Amino acid sequence: MTLAPELQEENPLLEGLGLARTPESCSLIIFGASGDLTQRKLFPALYSLAFRHLLPRNFGVVGVARTEESDEDFIERMKAAVQEYGRDSFRDEIWEPLAQGMRYISMDFGDESGWNRLSKTLADLDKNLGTAENRVYYFAVPPEAIATLVENIGKRRSKRGWDRLVVEKPFGWDLQSAQELNALLAKDFEESSIFRIDHYLGKETVQNMLALRFANGIFEPVWNRQFIDHVQITVAETIGIENRAGYYEKAGVIRDVFQNHLLQLVALTAMEPPIDFTSESVRNEKVKVLRSLHTPGPKHVVRGQYGAGWIEGEEVPAYRDESGCAPDSMTDTFIAAKLFVDNWRWADTPFYVRAGKRLARRETTIAIQFQRAPHPPFEAIAGEGLRPNMLVVHIQPDEGVALSIGAKVPGSGMTIRPVHMDFLYGGTFRTGIPEAYERLILDIMLGDQTLFTRADEVNEEWSLVDAIIAFWRRDKPVFPNYAAGTWGPLASNELIQRDGRSWQRF
Ligand code: BG6
Repeated sequence: MTLAPELQEENPLLEGLGLARTPESCSLIIFGASGDLTQRKLFPALYSLAFRHLLPRNFGVVGVARTEESDEDFIERMKAAVQEYGRDSFRDEIWEPLAQGMRYISMDFGDESGWNRLSKTLADLDKNLGTAENRVYYFAVPPEAIATLVENIGKRRSKRGWDRLVVEKPFGWDLQSAQELNALLAKDFEESSIFRIDHYLGKETVQNMLALRFANGIFEPVWNRQFIDHVQITVAETIGIENRAGYYEKAGVIRDVFQNHLLQLVALTAMEPPIDFTSESVRNEKVKVLRSLHTPGPKHVVRGQYGAGWIEGEEVPAYRDESGCAPDSMTDTFIAAKLFVDNWRWADTPFYVRAGKRLARRETTIAIQFQRAPHPPFEAIAGEGLRPNMLVVHIQPDEGVALSIGAKVPGSGMTIRPVHMDFLYGGTFRTGIPEAYERLILDIMLGDQTLFTRADEVNEEWSLVDAIIAFWRRDKPVFPNYAAGTWGPLASNELIQRDGRSWQRF
């Protein structure tokens, strides 16, 4: 597939990020700046935005964390991170202006003198850099640290500029804690200034699901229970928990990926067409799906934990042997579930979903399997290759969309074989795909909430998770129950095979 010639001429530096959307001058304050997210994702994203001239004209970044560090050391560490993790070539002339607005504050979040230093630093940036008292406060911290931050920020709000709060996941640990957190944020801040991040929504291919469904007339008439047999969504990773045992032991895959990324993919696949693309309209439709989701019972949810095994030729340890994990840990690293969306469009159409660590391949896909052709007028032999059509959205890697259709094999007979019509991002658009965080940080600075999760969406996600965790309290599975490098426990296959279907491999 190729692009129309006039589009090929477009400036590749701006492509994909929304042309000429430059935010107002502001400061970004990152709490938890010594963590992995800041160096692996946030700074590489900021650099890529600077690279494309998409940052505000006057822009400051203040890293805040407990760890002692000077401004200079922070700047050097972030420079190294951009060089290591960034997607764009490193250029001093791009980095230097960004580095000039960077500061670091070491403080305990409960410490008054630390807040005074932060206020003074921000006031200096306003005065000397022109950041206009506009602030984006980014919470890259565990949920329990947020109350102190919100209280202190609330006390020091400026009258002139705007304040926005960005909350990383996990957004609470269950419905109750998420509701408490929402109430806490709502005390001092409007919903329009709260940005709950689910970085999956920043992925180009996830947004393309909306384009695919709502920019193409051919899909809408068949996007329902009459034509679709079932949907399969897979979020498979080959990596383990990467030194995050402290967090992961508490979260498990159900809170780490299922509650947010996976359920958002379900919502985007199943939602009704919004009346327009304002953040409220899109989120109104998503929340309806989340509210109508249910799983028919404990038998339809499978959990797993990986044992030792092999990933891409390398031997890897069992989850319980990862550094920081309890030797008898009961944390889940795999989940598969059959879900239903209780509405007219989807009644009785199963959504089989699965997510896990240390699986056979890294792959995030949404596969829509259509009903079989009702009556193939071919001989029995020709019909053997007849498979139901399948539309597969490859979220990552190999980003693209493929439609499988039955085609005649050349020759004198009438043999049918499934073939694919493929659209591949890499081949069609000539530039690299922006990282999710680039898009999200830009949208926060622009005040656009479309790609962020609203309070009611988060609550609905937790309601389903709480129901599943309640099932899980009733029994104690034998863990580990799958070897690293496989597709999860056998029960995951049984879950779908009971319905006469199977997980698809692409
Ligand atoms: C994060 C999870 O939100 O998403 C990680 O905490 C997971 O455990 C990651 O590995 C996957 O995101 P991506 O963009 O690398 O597919």
